[in-house]
Amino acid sequence: MDKMNLNNKAARIINFAKHQKLKTSYKHKPVKKHMKRRTHIIAITSGKGGVGKTNIVANLGYALRKSGKKVLILDSDFGLGNLDVLLGLAPRYNLSHVISGEKKVSQIILDGPGGIKILPAASGIQELTNLNNEQKLKIINNIDSIIGDYDFLLIDTAAGITSNVLYFNVSAQQIVVVVTPEPTSITDAYALMKVLSLQYNEKNFKLLVNCVADELEAREVFNQISKVADRFLNISIEYLGKVAGDKNVKIGVKKQKIISELAPASPASQDFKVLAKKMSRFESRIIADGESCFFTENFVNKFADAPF
Ligand SMILES: Nc1ncnc2c1ncn2[C@@H]1O[C@H](COP(=O)(O)OP(=O)(O)OP(=O)(O)O)[C@@H](O)[C@H]1O
Ligand SMILES: [Mg+2]
Repeated sequence: MDKMNLNNKAARIINFAKHQKLKTSYKHKPVKKHMKRRTHIIAITSGKGGVGKTNIVANLGYALRKSGKKVLILDSDFGLGNLDVLLGLAPRYNLSHVISGEKKVSQIILDGPGGIKILPAASGIQELTNLNNEQKLKIINNIDSIIGDYDFLLIDTAAGITSNVLYFNVSAQQIVVVVTPEPTSITDAYALMKVLSLQYNEKNFKLLVNCVADELEAREVFNQISKVADRFLNISIEYLGKVAGDKNVKIGVKKQKIISELAPASPASQDFKVLAKKMSRFESRIIADGESCFFTENFVNKFADAPF
């Protein structure tokens, strides 16, 4: 999403908030020059489960860190988080302790491979699969207090179109939809974009095609989705890139090591490097000190009747 699109997103959320007859109005805070900072907040999502989101987030984070960026990864699969397992980490505390007030977010951050930082989610706590507004805001406020230390916040979302998934997508500055060539993955990705577009006025998406043989196959999947989206949804989908189907990904999962670390020369690892380079050039909003980097905190969540 370029700068204009980001501004458009902010404007659309304000309009959306007004449309929802929200109680207070957004007050624009002028950004003072000396306070400028930028953090990219990117949600990685899919609709369908098991298409590779968690692997992609971890490897993209690693590749971005290798290129000198500071990266924080939020596992927002609150009920069934498994990013820590994928990375072979054994967290003592997780975001459930932040929600309960036992820990601050800075106290639960884990060190991941290559210097990426991880905010682990809980696993096996069913109530967390449907956070209430107060709990969601608590997480966002906590992350906002430390986010200035990072260039990128990557959000690994859960599968599906639950309230948690929609919330973290709307909160992010960019939404990357992961899809594989399987028809079920394509229809679920379309369904997710449809809900985000119709209910939350999200208009810009980036598509990342996973598990492909080559660029041609990835482009075909992209064309298939964007043709239907152009016809039936008023949204813009940009091709972000592809990740090769690579046996080393599965080998890495078993060894609890990401492929970029285990087999840096393998096709998928090369793809992650290319993607990280592209993502380094993403535009992000300029944020003033004390202002939230998240969209929902700034706009929608001030209001009790926000539809999350
Ligand atoms: N590029 C790839 N090449 C080969 N296998 C892959 C690739 N990407 C993912 N996989 C396989 O898909 C499995 C699921 O990946 P992952 O857990 O990252 O998906 P997910 O979308 O996060 O799943 P969930 O929706 O359950 O969170 C991995 O364990 C791995 O075996
Ligand atoms: Mg996952």
